[in-house]
Amino acid sequence: MLEVRGLTAGYGRVRVVWDVDLTVGEREIVALIGPNGAGKTTLLRALSGVLPAASGTAMLADRPLTGRSIEDIAGLGVAHVPEGRRLFPGLTVRQNLLLGAWRHRTAEIDRVLELFPQLAPRLNQLAGSLSGGEQQMCAIARGLMSRPRLMMIDELSLGLAPIIVDEIVMRLPSIAAGGTAVLLVEQDVDTALSLASRAYVLETGRIVLQGPAADLLADSRVQESYLGIPPQP
Ligand SMILES: Nc1ncnc2c1ncn2[C@@H]1O[C@H](COP(=O)(O)OP(=O)(O)O)[C@@H](O)[C@H]1O
Ligand SMILES: [Mg+2]
Repeated sequence: MLEVRGLTAGYGRVRVVWDVDLTVGEREIVALIGPNGAGKTTLLRALSGVLPAASGTAMLADRPLTGRSIEDIAGLGVAHVPEGRRLFPGLTVRQNLLLGAWRHRTAEIDRVLELFPQLAPRLNQLAGSLSGGEQQMCAIARGLMSRPRLMMIDELSLGLAPIIVDEIVMRLPSIAAGGTAVLLVEQDVDTALSLASRAYVLETGRIVLQGPAADLLADSRVQESYLGIPPQP
């Protein structure tokens, strides 16, 4: 459904990601992993239109994303939950959620609250007063308000306690099954690979490994570099 071909992007004349080929199928969860500074955030920014692509193409359900504005790309069904969540701290949870529903004005709130019932008693509270985990739930719920075909989540677990991360990632399979495929950028490689059906490893701007998540979990390069498992003799 998402088809990225030869995508190169960066900042000004500085290229950060090179020649990336990547796909996400309908209702699929795909992980993108790699060290700090590899270009994961830059790749997501290029896909959501925050940055222009220098070359290459990205298509969502056969419609081009590259060359379009952030608004058009969102309208085509791509939601981006950025690193750091970026809620409006001075607005309530309800207001933050409604900002995600600029196309669908109806009772989407009830639907996203089924996924994250913890947010229900917090609807009238300022988003800035939520815990980190609740903020991440709110950011994901906001992204889901427009019923996107694809949700890209950047560093879901950043700064959150493992038990909270578990609570949030537990919802991703229902989100995907509900029609929103997930492209997950995640430092917690073990969690990401346990959840995803396929994964890509990005290092210094290039995809260096890809395949079924189970194969990558068993790959000695992934184990040594990302899971802290010492090399086997
Ligand atoms: N706004 C920016 N302007 C210039 N360079 C940037 C900017 N943001 C990130 N970079 C550079 O792009 C590279 C990739 O960064 P990033 O995409 O954030 O990596 P990751 O998300 O994998 O940690 C890094 O070398 C970083 O310094
Ligand atoms: Mg990043």
